[in-house]
Amino acid sequence: MSSYALELKDLRKSFGKTEIIRGVNLAVTAGERVGIIGPNGAGKSTLFNLISGRFAPTSGEVLLNGQRIDGKKPFEINRAGLSRSFQITNIFPKLSVFENLRCGVLWSLGYKYTFLKFLADLDDANQRADELMQMIKLDKKRDVLAINLTYAEQRALEIGITIAGGANVILLDEPTAGMSRSETSRFISLIKEVTTGKTLLTVEHDMGVVFGLADKIAVVVYGEVLAFDVPEAVRANPRVQEAYLGSAVADSQAGGH
Ligand SMILES: Nc1ncnc2c1ncn2[C@@H]1O[C@H](COP(=O)(O)OP(=O)(O)O)[C@@H](O)[C@H]1O
Ligand SMILES: [Mg+2]
Repeated sequence: MSSYALELKDLRKSFGKTEIIRGVNLAVTAGERVGIIGPNGAGKSTLFNLISGRFAPTSGEVLLNGQRIDGKKPFEINRAGLSRSFQITNIFPKLSVFENLRCGVLWSLGYKYTFLKFLADLDDANQRADELMQMIKLDKKRDVLAINLTYAEQRALEIGITIAGGANVILLDEPTAGMSRSETSRFISLIKEVTTGKTLLTVEHDMGVVFGLADKIAVVVYGEVLAFDVPEAVRANPRVQEAYLGSAVADSQAGGH
């Protein structure tokens, strides 16, 4: 039995003739927070799609808590304890904050919509939705429709839905995209809080943000993991500086995204 929460072994993915993920190996210890950085088009989202089951790998293995999950369906992987948020939001706009969270909880229970079972579980689901609402600090917006929340609040709700099922491995793809500096720093604190004790993989564009959030950083360049180490070591790695970090730091200093 593996002690890793998530393990990728020589993972590969081709679209047509083009190999996009080119032999990725990564072993993430339970409870670790991993930041994934790399240039646009490097394959970060594709990697998440392979892990979460949206795409099947061309070859290689994905292990969740020591169990093979590659080739399984997204909902099976979710029930096995891995949950991801999407860049495209999966919020129901015409439902309230509370209702959205309750949907997330009920969905994660694998609802067969047996009415009696539903009624029996509804109390638990309500209670869990209330807890989640406090965790994401939207309890004062309980009955507000999701469509009427601010952008940052909608992203918080999305995180709530992502963790609703109690998954212990969480994937977030650019969770702070489109946020202001101050929204970003508040949001990062929130992510840290709600994923305490969980294993987190997050793709993040902003260098300052990722160095503050992550225990370890994986640098993905052209479908390969160029480095996987603690932030200081990644920052000091000459290959990383050459391939990516120098220009990214220059970008962020120029205020570019
Ligand atoms: N479904 C797909 N079909 C074909 N090519 C894809 C598909 N998804 C991603 N790609 C290609 O894979 C490469 C990596 O994309 P992506 O994983 O989105 O990069 P990143 O998230 O690092 O910016 C890009 O060249 C992209 O065009
Ligand atoms: Mg992406």
